[in-house]
Amino acid sequence: MSSKLPEGWTRASKDGSLSQSDVEAYESKGFLAIVDFASDDECARMRSRAEAIVAEFEPETISIFSTGENQKRTTDAYFLASGNNVSCFFEEKAFDGTGALVVDKTKSINKIGHALHDLDPAFRAFSRSRKVYALLLSLGVREPTPVQSMYIFKNPKIGGAVTPHQDSTFLNTEPPTCLGIWLALEDCTVENGCLFAIEGTPEVTRHMEVDYPGGTREIRFTGAAPDDLDLSSATALEVPKGTLVLLHGSNVHFSRENTSAHSRHAYSVHYIDSSRAKWRETNWLQRDASFPFAPLTPDGDVHSTA
Ligand code: FE2
Repeated sequence: MSSKLPEGWTRASKDGSLSQSDVEAYESKGFLAIVDFASDDECARMRSRAEAIVAEFEPETISIFSTGENQKRTTDAYFLASGNNVSCFFEEKAFDGTGALVVDKTKSINKIGHALHDLDPAFRAFSRSRKVYALLLSLGVREPTPVQSMYIFKNPKIGGAVTPHQDSTFLNTEPPTCLGIWLALEDCTVENGCLFAIEGTPEVTRHMEVDYPGGTREIRFTGAAPDDLDLSSATALEVPKGTLVLLHGSNVHFSRENTSAHSRHAYSVHYIDSSRAKWRETNWLQRDASFPFAPLTPDGDVHSTA
């Protein structure tokens, strides 16, 4: 990267924390791209772990993940249990009309989720690193607690689009404190499906809720999404590998299909501030009582070398 960065971009500091002007840019835009946040070694470690997880995955339980409101998701116990484990989700386009895989298994996965940050040493080391703690602390998060993590493959030709959304629709606390980090593990371009973000942090008025009417698990959406979105105004975040994109829980962001011959791997984690907010019992993601959410510590993870 040249020394002059676009507006909404900054360069990582030594300890991971942000300057006051970076914090102000993040708060007004709802996103901030931090170049050189992760080293090549960190990116390589996470990529190789993701490849190993997929290699070990035996797809007898098939789950298609889409941010579209299809009925498949609403009844998918595999998805709803995944906050407690490391699960693989296929791309919708990985199958033909008969349900047969049309691409190699290693190129068929949409994402892995949603407890990598607690259950896998490589992802745990990054998600709970000293520098991520320092970053979140500089944003005023007093007790950063990771609640969800995803490894996103965006595989060549079949990597699906993610429709415009606000993360606090899906991961909600009272009051709202959700904040996402999204780490580019490969160079991101418009062609391979980079993130797009619309400046601002509009109030989140639509929420995904899980309920058990009559003992049957159901997902519903309450409220309406902002209806005046100007997608053409979105910033294309064509960031290089190692860049961490901060996403405010109220920011509207999306990505298009990957139409290129190149993958676009990324790792994202969502944090809440458990010092001042309560995880909603209606959130789709719920931990088993034996596996509670655990806040970061200033000294990083015991496995961490970061
Ligand atoms: Fe998101």
